[in-house]
Amino acid sequence: MLGIRKLTTVLAAVAPSAYALANVATVKTLAVSGGHTYSYTIAPSSYGRATYLLLHGFPSSSYDWRHTIRALTAESFGVVAPDLLGYGASSKPTAVEEYSQEKISGHVVEILQHEGISGVVGVGHDWYVFRHKTFLATPYSPVGPSPINLTAINTQTRSAFGHPIYGYWGFFNETDAASVMDKHHESFTSLLYPGDAAIWKTDVCPVGSLRKWLDADKKSSKPGYITDGEWSTHDSIMLGGGYTGPLNWYRAAMAGLNRSPTLNTARQSINKRVIFISGADDAVGRPELAEQTANTGRKSGLLPDVETFVVPNAGHWLQIEQSFRVSTILKSLDG
Ligand SMILES: *[C@@H]1O[C@H](CO)[C@@H](O)[C@H](O)[C@H]1NC(C)=O
Ligand SMILES: *[C@@H]1O[C@H](CO)[C@@H](O)[C@H](O)[C@H]1NC(C)=O
Repeated sequence: MLGIRKLTTVLAAVAPSAYALANVATVKTLAVSGGHTYSYTIAPSSYGRATYLLLHGFPSSSYDWRHTIRALTAESFGVVAPDLLGYGASSKPTAVEEYSQEKISGHVVEILQHEGISGVVGVGHDWYVFRHKTFLATPYSPVGPSPINLTAINTQTRSAFGHPIYGYWGFFNETDAASVMDKHHESFTSLLYPGDAAIWKTDVCPVGSLRKWLDADKKSSKPGYITDGEWSTHDSIMLGGGYTGPLNWYRAAMAGLNRSPTLNTARQSINKRVIFISGADDAVGRPELAEQTANTGRKSGLLPDVETFVVPNAGHWLQIEQSFRVSTILKSLDG
């Protein structure tokens, strides 16, 4: 009962702005395996143009693709943008085991099959590109053969960039992390979507820094790329669902749940064109790491056709910060 009430509340809260896309896309729901329900924004392609699968990262929802969806649909491209598990109007199971990448990828495939879409241009922000970036510490592997060694990643990146990139992961694994984020929601959102991307180097990336920021309830300056109305929509989406589900993505990875004994080496190479787009000022998704991942992938043959792009004047939220540039690159991928 509680679950159903919550879902209704979220839908109502999200409606005004999500439906600002109502003239270009519709929102649908689908029951997938595991007893979960997904909500997704969808628009069909016309004139034989490609359909783009848009997968958001942490801590956000399909709402992060609002500019991209407008840009793509305006030129007859199709889009499918789900609220991924734990987010928005989709199910938010509390069990960590539900959040393995293998299960979540399966849900996304079910959505595409249900819609009769046989090929997409896959676009992942943050989490879905994360696994490519793990090249830094481990060889490329879509579902990670070994648990993530945070110490190793943080040590190596501290010496390369002057700050570790995953210092906040330890906090995300702490049992009270979700309640601390809920309690200091405004402080958390202001830091995650900051006015100056450089603040992540001091207050997100170093071990222990994010928790300190939240405990002190600090606020960063607001960015120019999000309007007041967009803030309220983002807030109602995140507060409606809470952070337990979103944090479970990290906990599943740290618990080694993304290891798959069934995925063999041959299936791990991506024999399609792959591109990495990085924000020049992103402290976590460093362009150097994307470059390194691309080089390693070319050499090993796992990414035979890979190219990197760096978007200037953008931090982590490049599809919001520099939406025109990002949409232009994405459109060029059709064909
Ligand atoms: C993780 O990396 C650190 C530092 O490189 C190393 O000392 C440690 O043994 C590694 N842990 C595991 C479980 O491999
Ligand atoms: C995360 O927490 C789990 C259980 O609470 C623990 O087994 C695991 O070692 C932790 N991992 C890291 C990287 O802190």
